Amino acid sequence: MQDTKKGLEDVLALDTSICSIDGRQGILKYRGIEVERLEQMSYDAVSYLLIYGKIPDKKELDDYSKKLRSERYISSDILNVLNVCNYGSEALDSLRTAVCCSAHMDTEKDDSSMEANMSKSIRLVAKFPTLVASVHRYKTGQLPIAPDENLSHGANFLYMLKGKVPTELEADAIEKDFILSAEHELNPSTFSLRITASTMADIYSAVITGLCTLKGPLHGGARKGVMNMLDEVSNSENAEKYVLDKLLHRQKVMGFGHRVYKTCDPRAKLFKDIARQLADEQGNSHWYDVAENLEHTMYREFMATKGKPIFPNVDFYSAVVYKYLDIPPELATSVFATGRVSGWVSHYFEQYANNRVIRPRANYI
Ligand code: CMC
Repeated sequence: MQDTKKGLEDVLALDTSICSIDGRQGILKYRGIEVERLEQMSYDAVSYLLIYGKIPDKKELDDYSKKLRSERYISSDILNVLNVCNYGSEALDSLRTAVCCSAHMDTEKDDSSMEANMSKSIRLVAKFPTLVASVHRYKTGQLPIAPDENLSHGANFLYMLKGKVPTELEADAIEKDFILSAEHELNPSTFSLRITASTMADIYSAVITGLCTLKGPLHGGARKGVMNMLDEVSNSENAEKYVLDKLLHRQKVMGFGHRVYKTCDPRAKLFKDIARQLADEQGNSHWYDVAENLEHTMYREFMATKGKPIFPNVDFYSAVVYKYLDIPPELATSVFATGRVSGWVSHYFEQYANNRVIRPRANYI
């Protein structure tokens, strides 16, 4: 037996053509295209790129967008389930339950042909925003709002969440959030999803696996952790003390560090820019300032104590963006999942197309 690699660090587990990361240079590409370029597209175009492996031409994009928009609706049965879930459970738990129930109610659930799986993927991508917004509406004692087919993927989500059409900048911010959250190679939730896919389980089971793994605070749950931290720090003058206390007690500061990036996560830079624009539009740099002070203190302390920097990851400034969009912390992981679902289904297809069951070994001690 070879030595084990704790946390499978740097282990190459499979081949993929969906995503590449250069952790030293801080370059992230979906299907060979840098996130800085992808961010300028629509979520519909990026999810198409991920799922079908090519940038859609105008007709392909129109047809795909039309299909997504027509699939945004969820049934009254699912709404009833979400209403029942409204007793103390976390938003992500409600979302997971709704996806489980959607699987039961899908007439194609037992059909694992390529065609049926593609329809199920489109339904998942289209319905996630409606599910998450409806979870939020019930949890805050309000009735869900039906989707508006005239709005883009992101704008419609914010509309269903709050009951009013977002500003252009807010719509742009959430669209970019979904794009930048859509895909990230073999992150824990995608890896767990691929393991499920490798057993030839159905696509809903695989997506539910992804959701369960995303929840943890060392993965997608960190976004909620950052939002709670921003509330706890509350004021930029408290940021330094907060960081020093955490490091003194050898506790993690949420939204910092990354297994793969040795430099700044490119998504963190893009999210920082979006947060700055929202702060300017709202004439309120409060959350941006708190975050920047946390970032500067972390950098300084890591340089001083470890001789190397630590950078914010994707969950740090995305949480600041959520603050400005008035998305509550308990919804943060579910909003993350709303972007990530297109990446997940793409990995499902890739695994299915060239499958061998994923079954490594353990070193008995
Ligand atoms: N706060 C304080 N110290 C940290 C942090 C942090 N956020 N991240 C890493 N370190 C320290 C860690 O204590 C360790 O120090 P030492 O060598 O003295 O023991 C060193 O840096 C290496 O960290 P590690 O935990 O061994 O690194 P890892 O590759 O196993 O874990 C990580 C990566 C992202 C889980 C970790 O950095 C972390 O827990 N960060 C906070 C949670 C977080 O933001 N998660 C989001 C991850 S990225 C997006 C996503 O997946 O959703």
